[in-house]
Amino acid sequence: MSKNRCFQFSRAITRSPAPTVVDGLRDGDGSDPDFTTFQTQHKAYIAALEKAGVKLTRLPQTAKFPDSVFIEDAAICLQDAAIVLRPGAPSRFGEAEFLRPVLEQHFSKVIDLPGDGTLDGGDVLLTNHHAFIGLSERTNQAGFDALASILLQFDYQSIKVETPSDILHFKTDCGLLDEGTIFATKKLAATGCFSDYRVIEVPEGEEAAANIVRINDVVFLSSNYPNSKKLLQKSGYNLVTLDISEPAKIDGGLSCMSLRF
Ligand code: GLY
Repeated sequence: MSKNRCFQFSRAITRSPAPTVVDGLRDGDGSDPDFTTFQTQHKAYIAALEKAGVKLTRLPQTAKFPDSVFIEDAAICLQDAAIVLRPGAPSRFGEAEFLRPVLEQHFSKVIDLPGDGTLDGGDVLLTNHHAFIGLSERTNQAGFDALASILLQFDYQSIKVETPSDILHFKTDCGLLDEGTIFATKKLAATGCFSDYRVIEVPEGEEAAANIVRINDVVFLSSNYPNSKKLLQKSGYNLVTLDISEPAKIDGGLSCMSLRF
């Protein structure tokens, strides 16, 4: 096991957005993303991944699955194995199976989530030793049980969290800063789930900044959150800020646009 398997990565997989991304799922009836701007922002995200030191596998767009750019919801990649998930939204059911052949090219061990539970990767935050798994509209108890039993084989202890009902995914409201520190909204931190970790709370009014992602020496943060930027810089983190206004319109964030391993 590498010292920090939770943020030291040499590879990542992304999928380009398809024009159908404008039909992506969203909470409420917000405006559609602009496809061209989405593409531009996705390209900047990819460039930042490469600059952070990961070798990318870039998958082509697939119009059949509008949300497939949010590739993290379909699988979990560990150091030595990948787990094919079962996303919980009907329009996303087929995404994981569609991704499976790509995972087979990268991993000698590809494990299907057993049973019929549902689970989105956006509900799973891995640290070196723990897997925080949020129950949500997308992830149910059966999905938790199935994933927890697989992750035990890889030395992760799973911690179940009841994600507050107005939060789409567990990681909508948190992200890993380093092996012992979580950036989390006040609301999520109040659940007490991170009691073994240092928590840096997202500044009030900037809750949408919570979904950061740590990759090697850098932390990706959404741009336009000046107080979060100041706070994290003051705390010693090396930041890359990225404009993700278009993914955000369909509840997409920084972590969900790649699988890292
Ligand atoms: N649009 C991202 C999701 O709802 O899965």
